[in-house]
Amino acid sequence: MTYERANVARMSGYVYGEQPAERDIVKLNTNENPYPPSPAVFRALSLFDAADLRRYPPATADELRRLVASRYGVETDNVVVTNGGDEGLRLAVTTFADPGNVFGTAKPSYSLYPVLAAVQDCVLAEIPLDADWTPPDDFASRLNAAGARLTCLVNPHAPSGVLISRQAIAMIAEHLDGVLLVDEAYVDFVDPGLGHDLVPLLRKHENLLLLRTLSKGYALAGLRVGFLIGNESLIQPIVSKTRDSFNVDAIAQSLAGAALNDRAYAERRWEDIRRERDRLTEAMRARDYRVADSQANFVLVRVPRAGDVFHRLRQRGIFVRYFDQPRLSDCLRVTVGTPEQNDKLLDAMDKIAEEPSDGG
Ligand SMILES: Cc1ncc(COP(=O)(O)O)c(C=O)c1O
Repeated sequence: MTYERANVARMSGYVYGEQPAERDIVKLNTNENPYPPSPAVFRALSLFDAADLRRYPPATADELRRLVASRYGVETDNVVVTNGGDEGLRLAVTTFADPGNVFGTAKPSYSLYPVLAAVQDCVLAEIPLDADWTPPDDFASRLNAAGARLTCLVNPHAPSGVLISRQAIAMIAEHLDGVLLVDEAYVDFVDPGLGHDLVPLLRKHENLLLLRTLSKGYALAGLRVGFLIGNESLIQPIVSKTRDSFNVDAIAQSLAGAALNDRAYAERRWEDIRRERDRLTEAMRARDYRVADSQANFVLVRVPRAGDVFHRLRQRGIFVRYFDQPRLSDCLRVTVGTPEQNDKLLDAMDKIAEEPSDGG
């Protein structure tokens, strides 16, 4: 006997990256920022008056919406603030896809998408990525043929970090019949020299939604603040109908504002992470491991005996991510850490490479 809806009874939940309680773990498994948030966030937290928690927070976080809007050169009505990027994804599914509708995505991709599709009892259409981790040319037409109402595409791609160009995204948005949500959770780490910016596409493509989060670029994964940016016709139903009435708490609104207002600090950290990403990539390649060109704060490294290496790193207190699934089971996804953390990882990998393999 179960009280669950049939689709919920059938599905499996999201598998989280491990969150160990110990502080001394080299934690390179969930793409968190290895640096603390801006000092402005610490200040805002210490100045926050707990007496204000007696009241509900501003329901639609309008001050924050205005800040985000001015930052990206859009109007307040083009922004909805969410409880982390994940809530933005969930709201997109519940707003734009009926049970039984097709939910489109690429494969492999962020493993939460199939879970959200299953919760909404959607039919999943997963289009395999090309060998270079970019969508095939017929991505949109195959999803149209499947009848996709909502498609989520992560860019830079997870778990490879590969960046799809603005032109390619524009083509997909142009041809796709349904809503295209581009999940830009990692976009802050893209090399500024590439001039990558999808916001201008919003003017032309009414079906385009961009997802952003403070979890990665602003080192605030624990705060749970993200936002969706898009045409008013996509944003308004979320703001006024499908969102929980007070979806972003008062502390989160205050601290998120402080973080966004100190963009200079965040940018310095992005630069640090990019430098380390490039060093880690080169160091891995120098060891003959194949690494995709990442524009995110992680790298996907093809390593012999990847599953075994994952366990041996874990025994040494170094956590990375291993996905035991097609196309990824020979890889480790490694979050870019501080220089010291990355050195520890490289050193441990060298030692493990010298060890006899299981049974050998
Ligand atoms: C691709 C992708 N999208 C969205 C998120 C959501 O992050 P958050 O809910 O912390 O904003 C993550 C987190 O790992 C992610 O990897």
